[in-house]
Amino acid sequence: MTLRMITLAAILSLPAVSCLAAADIAAGQEKAKPCLVCHGEHGVSSMPGIPSLAGQQDQFLQWQLVFFRTGRRPNPMMAPLIANITDQDIRDLGAYFHSLPYTTAISDDSPNPEMAEKGKLIVEQHHCAACHKNDFRGERAAAALADQRQDYLVKALTDYRSAARPSTGVAAMSEAASGLTDDDIVAVSHYLATLPPVKK
Ligand code: HEC
Ligand code: HEC
Repeated sequence: MTLRMITLAAILSLPAVSCLAAADIAAGQEKAKPCLVCHGEHGVSSMPGIPSLAGQQDQFLQWQLVFFRTGRRPNPMMAPLIANITDQDIRDLGAYFHSLPYTTAISDDSPNPEMAEKGKLIVEQHHCAACHKNDFRGERAAAALADQRQDYLVKALTDYRSAARPSTGVAAMSEAASGLTDDDIVAVSHYLATLPPVKK
């Protein structure tokens, strides 16, 4: 990890929106109803290109909603939906999706042990676990990646690499993804998407 990455990790531990009022999970559940059409009934997506949100890190979720709202993370599907969302909505939605059980994404990626092994080596070489933790369940603003949809992980890494998706602060993820080839991205995504479920 470079010093810049360490500084970034410290910045990212700050809350995304000011904490004037506590998050309300029940209110979040109500506000999340329109989201489930795409993100899945229990926050587990069965649609290509759409990430699962169940059990995702609260701070990460809040930051992404702030980024969609400001247009910093441009996305034609998410942008109109959350254009008028308040900070309190963001806190409630983050708390609600975080409270849902973390389960394996529904996708048709059949395990390919050789590809998973290649992905594991790349992940180790790039110290991805330094921020995403050894079980890849993430921490604070660093996303949970384990068992996320493979197609979505490929898209996210490709978007970071091209800077179509700017990463937080001083660009930790653009830096992390910049050295990965297309084949590396597929292998890494396959490894993460097919990790065995962790009991917690
Ligand atoms: C029309 C389908 C659709 C609806 C409805 C929808 N989303 Fe999304 N959402 C997406 C897509 C597609 C992405 C992936 C964007 C990308 O590729 O960068 C996404 C990404 C996200 C992310 C980023 C997750 C990550 O892992 O990076 C969050 C958080 C999110 N949506 C929350 C919500 C919330 C909260 C609602 C309801 C207010 C909602 N979404 C409604 C399609 C939708
Ligand atoms: C210095 C800390 C750090 C390192 C090292 C790091 N990440 Fe990240 N990663 C983050 C943070 C923080 C985010 C959220 C960034 C944002 O807000 O866009 C993130 C986001 C992601 C996402 C998007 C997840 C989603 O649901 O949208 C993927 C995929 C990802 N990282 C994979 C990796 C891989 C693979 C590596 C190693 C090659 C890696 N990361 C290394 C901190 C890091």
